[in-house]
Amino acid sequence: MSAAEDLFKRLRNSGDECKSLLKKHLTPAVFEKYKNVKTVFGGTIAHCIASGCLHLKSHCGIYASDPDAYDTFSDVFYPILKEYHKVDKLEHPKPDFGDLNNLGFGDLDPKNEFINSTRIRVGRSHAGYGFPPTSSKQDRLEMERITVDALRTLRGDLAGKYFPLQGMTAAEEKQLVQDHFLFRNDDPVLGDANGYDDWPAGRGIFFSHNKRFLVWVNEEDHLRIISMQPGGNLAEVWQRLVKGLTTLEKKLTFAHHPKFGYLTFCPTNLGTTLRASVHIRIPNLSKHKDFKEICEKLNLQPRGIHGEHSDSEGGVYDISNKRRMGLTEIEAVQEMRRGVERIIELEKGLKTQK
Ligand code: ADP
Ligand code: ARG
Repeated sequence: MSAAEDLFKRLRNSGDECKSLLKKHLTPAVFEKYKNVKTVFGGTIAHCIASGCLHLKSHCGIYASDPDAYDTFSDVFYPILKEYHKVDKLEHPKPDFGDLNNLGFGDLDPKNEFINSTRIRVGRSHAGYGFPPTSSKQDRLEMERITVDALRTLRGDLAGKYFPLQGMTAAEEKQLVQDHFLFRNDDPVLGDANGYDDWPAGRGIFFSHNKRFLVWVNEEDHLRIISMQPGGNLAEVWQRLVKGLTTLEKKLTFAHHPKFGYLTFCPTNLGTTLRASVHIRIPNLSKHKDFKEICEKLNLQPRGIHGEHSDSEGGVYDISNKRRMGLTEIEAVQEMRRGVERIIELEKGLKTQK
């Protein structure tokens, strides 16, 4: 039995344990159609489904082996994209970052009662390179080199330094992870999608001197561009992100699809690739029986405070926009802003009831 067939069998035999979008949309007929197909980057259906077949609790369960995989394996990717991003048609608007001088929002928590910190990130992929399963060590090192060259063009508040993972001490690495700045290599879901191949080669992190503008190199995506700061000033975080991104775009060419927007390794990130989050203190609302449902209705996603698949601590949650495709960047930020404002109202209501 081939690797792909073996993986597919695990998925089909998984029973109630597995409720992933992959299981729903990779029917036997679709699998048969693709089991011997390769993308122009050499990507296979086995590359795409390995993580989801080994981690049956995955919600989505599929990754793109490379930028070509979305169209090559369209019968499985397209319905998953529609269902995850809640869109009827696979169309993504042109990038729109809004009028930075007239955003119409500012600090979501001016009295500092609820929000510990605010962060916005986007993912970007270098045009012409595969995603983790189809990237070689040489590719990773090359991508790191072109990224570092571009980072040198950042000026003023955005200027900073690149720290490759190779060469960092274990203590430095631990501290950066604890402070919510650095990524780790301990998520088996990403590991089984080839996310940690050749680790730590080609990986590293860039910081501006004030640690408010950051770039992750070769974590899940080739680039994760991040703006973050203490408190709830969403406007400042957004303005900084757009400024940094615009500067980097002058030097780098990013993979972009006419129908899907910016291309990323995971289909859940496609389109705007944008996740705007707050670390927010909601001890009452988070205990409410309908908390998850309330978030879902507001198109928000709750996470723990050490990132995806982590737990909350002391009633502090990471709350962010869930949808990234079929809306513009500024609409995704506004969706998160409206949702967080509502979450604060609900938390206030529950507090006064006590
Ligand atoms: P991503 O946002 O890149 O999808 P994660 O959910 O794993 O990935 O989060 C990455 C890191 O960013 C984690 O250390 C997490 O605690 C931190 N983080 C996310 N949102 C915030 C925030 N609003 N304030 C501070 N740290 C945050
Ligand atoms: N593959 C995992 C799942 O399907 C994670 C999906 C979203 N997270 C991510 N880091 N891309 O549940």
